Amino acid sequence: MPTTQQTETASPIGRKTPRVDGPLKVTGVAQYASDFHFPGLLYAVPVEAAIANGKIDKLDISAAEKMPGVRAIFHRGNIGKIFRSTKGQGFEGINDERRPPFEDDVIRYYGQYIALAVADTFESAKAAADALRATYIKEKPNVETDLKADDEPDVVDTSFEPTKRVESERGDPEGTFASAPVKLDQTYVTPTETHNPIELQSTTAIWEGTNLTIYEESQGIFNLRSVLAQMFGLPKENVRVVTKFVGSGFGSKLWPWTHCPLAVAAARQLGKPVKLVLSRKMMFQSVGHRPRTQQRVRLGATSDGKLVSLQHDYVNHQAILDNYHEDCGEATPFHYSVPNLRVKFGRARRNVGSPTAMRGPGAVPGLYATESAMNELADQLKIDPVKLRVLNEPKIDESLGIPFSSRHFLECLDLGAEKFGWSQRKPEIGSMKRDGLILGWGMAGAAWVAARFPAEASVQLRDDGSARVASGTQDIGTGTYTILAQLASEKTGVPLEKVEVVLGDTSLPAGPISGGSMVTGSMVPAVFAAADHAIESLFSIATTTPGSQFEKKKPADLAFEGGKIFVKADAPGNGVPFADVLRRANVRLVTGNGKSEATFGNPKPKFSTHSFGCHFVEVTWQPEIARLRVSRVVTVIDAGRILNPLAGRNQIEGAVVMGIGMALLEHTTYDPQNGAPINSNLADYMMPVNADAPSAIDVHFLDYPDKEINELGARGIGEIGLAGIAAAITEATYHATGVRVRELPIKIEDLLTSSVLA
Ligand code: MOS
Repeated sequence: MPTTQQTETASPIGRKTPRVDGPLKVTGVAQYASDFHFPGLLYAVPVEAAIANGKIDKLDISAAEKMPGVRAIFHRGNIGKIFRSTKGQGFEGINDERRPPFEDDVIRYYGQYIALAVADTFESAKAAADALRATYIKEKPNVETDLKADDEPDVVDTSFEPTKRVESERGDPEGTFASAPVKLDQTYVTPTETHNPIELQSTTAIWEGTNLTIYEESQGIFNLRSVLAQMFGLPKENVRVVTKFVGSGFGSKLWPWTHCPLAVAAARQLGKPVKLVLSRKMMFQSVGHRPRTQQRVRLGATSDGKLVSLQHDYVNHQAILDNYHEDCGEATPFHYSVPNLRVKFGRARRNVGSPTAMRGPGAVPGLYATESAMNELADQLKIDPVKLRVLNEPKIDESLGIPFSSRHFLECLDLGAEKFGWSQRKPEIGSMKRDGLILGWGMAGAAWVAARFPAEASVQLRDDGSARVASGTQDIGTGTYTILAQLASEKTGVPLEKVEVVLGDTSLPAGPISGGSMVTGSMVPAVFAAADHAIESLFSIATTTPGSQFEKKKPADLAFEGGKIFVKADAPGNGVPFADVLRRANVRLVTGNGKSEATFGNPKPKFSTHSFGCHFVEVTWQPEIARLRVSRVVTVIDAGRILNPLAGRNQIEGAVVMGIGMALLEHTTYDPQNGAPINSNLADYMMPVNADAPSAIDVHFLDYPDKEINELGARGIGEIGLAGIAAAITEATYHATGVRVRELPIKIEDLLTSSVLA
C-alpha cells in the first residue's frame, strides 16, 4: 500500500499546503459577492408569496411606493421582458427553476417572488417590501410527505437530459428475489434538507449600455452567464460574471435562481446598479433544497450471504413545474456484485420550490438506503457487516461490464476496521459499555463518481520569476486557489508564494463548475498543458534572443526543470532561470493556454471511475435521558492521489460533521396549512455544531493514483465523505438502542421505545 499519511516532499504535490487565500479571508480583505459597492447603488428586496398554491388576486403597492427612499416597486406589469432560458450543450443554460420570475400570476410554492422593492438603502427597500399588500385566490397546497410516484412515462425530462426511469437493469430481479432463501424488503426515507452556506445568496447587477456585469457567489459562472444572456436576449460576450470568493454553496449556488434576473431587470429599468441579498428565510424557499426521498430496497441473498437480487425503487419530490431528479440510484448498480438488479425512480409533484443538487446529490440519500439495507441483511444473516461487503465485492462494474479504473474498497474496509478496533465488536444489542455509557458501533461503505469536466486555464511566466495561473472556475471554500497554485508551482518550479492564482471571472479561460467534486481532477491536465505551452514559448525565446546562452540551440534541444532552462544533454543544475531568459529578451511574460477534455458523460467509457470509502462510527447512548451522541468516527477514503492532505482532510472532516447532521438533526418541515418551510432559520433548522462533533474524526486516505482521471491520478474529495455515513450512524444507533430508524433524522422520540436500560 502506498503511504497513507504523506510526509513533506520537495514537490508541492502531496504537500500539506495551507490555503493560499487564507490570509485574505482572516483579515477581511477577501471580497465576497455582496461586498462590492458602486456609486449610485440601489438595494432590492423581493416580496415573497405567503401562500404555496393559488393566484395573486391584487397587489396593493400604493403605500409601499410612497415610502421614503423608494425608487420603484416592480411586479409583472412593469419589470420588463425576462425571457426563458433553455439548456444548451454541456453545462450551458442549466436551471432547476426554469420559469422566469413574474412570468404569470400563479403561485406554486411558498416564498415565490411576487414583487420587488427597490430603494436607496436596504432598510427602505425592506420596509417597502413589508408594506406591500397582496391578496390571493388560495388553494390547498400539496406538501404531503408520503411520496407515491406520479404517473409519468418511461422516459422523463430532468434538469439535464431526458432520462429512463429504469436506470439500470440486469437478470431477473423479481424472480430471483421471490425464490431467495433470505429476503429483506424495507423502505427508507430522507427528509427535505436545506443547504445552509454561511454566505447568503446575492446578485449585484450593473448595466453599461447593453453590457451587463454581475457579482454573484456562483458555483458555475459560465453557466450563469449563458442563462442570463438568454434571459435578457444578449450575446454571451456582453455578460460578465465575477465570483471572487464563495462562502460555501453545497450545491445551492450551482445554478441560477430567480432573484438574479430580478436584480438584473430592476437595474435595467432604473439605469442604476442594483444589489439584492436574500434573507436566510428566502434561502429555505427559493434557492433549492435536497428533496425528500422514499426508497424501497429489496435484497435477496443466499443463506451464506451472497446477494442474488437487488431492487431499488425510489421517489423524490419535485416542484410543480420543474423536473428535478434526485439520482438515488447513482451508486447502486455497481457497488456490489449481484447478478439480478433493477433501479427505478419516480417523482411526486409538490407545492415546493425546485429541489437542486446538495452535496453528493443522489448517492448520499441513495447510499443511506442501500447501505442501511446491507446492514440489516447482515443482522438477519448473523454475518459481520464488513464480511457481508467483502463477500459481495465485485470484480468489475457489473452494470457497464467494464473494469474499475481504481477501486480499493476492500482495503478501505480493512484499514477502517483496524483503526477503529472493529474486531472488538460484540454484536448483541446494548452489550458494549464504556464509562457508564452504552456504546453502539456501525459501519457503511461509500462511493462517489469521479470524472473530468471540460476545463481551460492559462499559465504565465514573468520576468521577475513569478507565475500567474488563471481559470474561470471558482473556489467555494474547498481549496481551489491552493490546488491551482500547487499545480502551477509543480510544473514551473515557481515557489508557491510567487504564484498568483486568478479565478472567478468569465473574462478568464472557461473553467468547470464547482460541482461533483470534479474541479481538481478537471484542472490538472489544463494547468499542466498551459504550463507546457508557456515553457515552449520560453524555449523559442531562449533560442532566438541574441546573446542568449541557448542561441545556437533548437527548442527541441532544451529542457525545463525547477524553473530553469537547460540543454537536455546537460544536468538541470547548469540551467538558466527562466526570468533571466525573459529579461535578456526584454519580454515581460509568456503565456500558455491549456485545456482538459471532459470524461463526464462519456457514452462509451473504457473504465468505471469512482471514488470509494467507508465509515466506522461509534455512538454513546444514555437511556436515562435518551441522549445519543456520535463519539468516534473513522473514515477511509480511496480518492486517487491526494494533492493536498490538509485540504483533503478538511473536506472529509466537514463531510463527516454534515453526516452527523443528516443522521441526527437536519430536516426542513413544510406547514401543511400554508406550505411554508416552518423551520426556515438557523435556530429552528438544526445543524451540527462543534458540541455535536466527536472529538476524534480519524481520516485516512489510501492515496492510489487513478491515471484514468489525469496524469497525477487525483480524483476529487468534496462529496464522498458524506456518502454512507448516515447509514453507519443509524446502524450504530440500532446496536446501542435496539431501535431501527428508517426515516431520517433520528429523533429522540424514535429512541424512547429502546429496550436497552442503563
Ligand atoms: Mo455539489 S451538490 O456538486 O455543489
